[in-house]
Amino acid sequence: MGIALIVHGGAGAIADNDVAPHREGARTAANIGWVILANGGNALDAVQAAIVSMEDDPAFDAGYGSYLNRDGQVEMDASFMDGRTLDAGSIAGVQHIKNPILVARRVMESEHTFLIAHGAERFATEQGIALIDEKEMRAPNAIAKWQECVNNPPPAPLAQYVPVHGTVGCVAIDQNGNIAAGTSTGGMSFKRVGRVGDSPIIGAGTYADNLLGGASATGWGEAITRVVLSKFAVDALANNRHPNEAARAAIEMLASRVGGTGGVIMVDRFGRIGFAFNTPRMAYAYLTPNKSVVASC
Ligand code: GLY
Repeated sequence: MGIALIVHGGAGAIADNDVAPHREGARTAANIGWVILANGGNALDAVQAAIVSMEDDPAFDAGYGSYLNRDGQVEMDASFMDGRTLDAGSIAGVQHIKNPILVARRVMESEHTFLIAHGAERFATEQGIALIDEKEMRAPNAIAKWQECVNNPPPAPLAQYVPVHGTVGCVAIDQNGNIAAGTSTGGMSFKRVGRVGDSPIIGAGTYADNLLGGASATGWGEAITRVVLSKFAVDALANNRHPNEAARAAIEMLASRVGGTGGVIMVDRFGRIGFAFNTPRMAYAYLTPNKSVVASC
């Protein structure tokens, strides 16, 4: 069984001077996950490690670097899915967690599938994950972006949202054919307090099923949620369809049905990689046994 791993660092209008940090951050994360797979580790650990790396990198809209909400605070969402068991775990609206993906995984391993806000943070503490001061999660680039929005508030309601920094995600298959997927985000720039997008919603932001493959989505969360994009993409793998084709079909459906913008990354049960996006750029990197890291943005 061939191992494979792909990460994304967000789909959107990534500015020219942000391209290199996005590409290098994605490359680093993919390599970290790959080392785990190549040493016989499982897909869950590979996905987790790759996403932690991007959550710690302020280039991305996840963990440290998350966009700030209208009150100037971080509110983060994450999800994790195990394609072997279909176990799934999500958290939303957390403010005091350094690496939300770690808590999403613990939720997945618990009796629940979704915990929010202070309940998710209390659960994290019970699991031995320390809470941190929310102010420590505010990266200088996120504060600067928030200040821009305070000075020039974006039009509301938004007709269409195209981010400039990226949600992060990873999909991997290990040597036993087990597929895992995860996604982590700070959500939308200058979002309404309490707003939750697609990333923590199983089926929308993340999906994995060993029988077909796995997917992680990025982009305009409200649109992605309405069409349950990741589950659509995984279902499109039926009849051994190539993940590139399935990803393209999913993004075409996102655009045609709800005018959505975004991207999706995929790995299928044969270890084939696929991705598609309809935004100006998407940061991504992937590895298979035959290809070293391919990173682009
Ligand atoms: N895709 C991330 C979000 O809209 O929150």
